Amino acid sequence: MKILTVTGYKGGVAKSTTAVHLATYFSDIGKTVLVDGDPNRTSVGWANRGTLPFTVADERQAMKVISGADYVVIDTPARPNSDDLKELAKGCDLLVLPTAPDVLSLQPMLETAKDLGSANYRALLVIVPPYPNREGEVMLHDLLSGGVPVFKAMIRRTTGFPKAALAGIPIRDLNDSRAKIAWADYQALGDEIMELWQ
Ligand SMILES: Nc1ncnc2c1ncn2[C@@H]1O[C@H](COP(=O)(O)OP(=O)(O)OP(=O)(O)O)[C@@H](O)[C@H]1O
Ligand SMILES: [Mg+2]
Repeated sequence: MKILTVTGYKGGVAKSTTAVHLATYFSDIGKTVLVDGDPNRTSVGWANRGTLPFTVADERQAMKVISGADYVVIDTPARPNSDDLKELAKGCDLLVLPTAPDVLSLQPMLETAKDLGSANYRALLVIVPPYPNREGEVMLHDLLSGGVPVFKAMIRRTTGFPKAALAGIPIRDLNDSRAKIAWADYQALGDEIMELWQ
């Protein structure tokens, strides 16, 4: 069983969106459970509005539901403090920290990375503005130069994500070509994670 936790030091940075789409990716490979560890129950709500290709469990029922799972993805609320992040990292195989490419997020991310040291984590750039804007690439470069382990895959900004959340489905099931391209971003991320785990 592989356990991946999605967290971060900020609210509203696509943690739940990332948890849902990574669970979608893993569900094509093995039995997958998404554990919603956020009292707001964003992921549980997503599942209840429509159909997701994996089980979503409230954290209070997690123990029972995850038995026999190949992949467990844990969605969490924002963790402002790095001690919390360190403890979370110990409890999983990989900690994913989504972060938006803005100047204000760079400094806190660099500090988080310093505090986390050699913990098992990667930053993920999300809600990246489309070409010709270069904020994503610039931030990727800045994080790498600051010694932050970061995924090469970046998740583009598109209205398909809130639409998919509203419909209770993964973005790949929306009927529009831009949504399929955005899904490819999460597929590339999933491929990178599988490579890490090999
Ligand atoms: N790549 C994206 N492009 C556009 N909108 C996005 C993208 N990813 C997420 N969003 C939207 O941003 C909002 C916040 O996303 P989400 O709920 O996943 O964040 P979160 O970090 O889990 O928030 P919270 O801290 O409240 O749990 C949602 O409306 C979501 O649909
Ligand atoms: Mg959330």
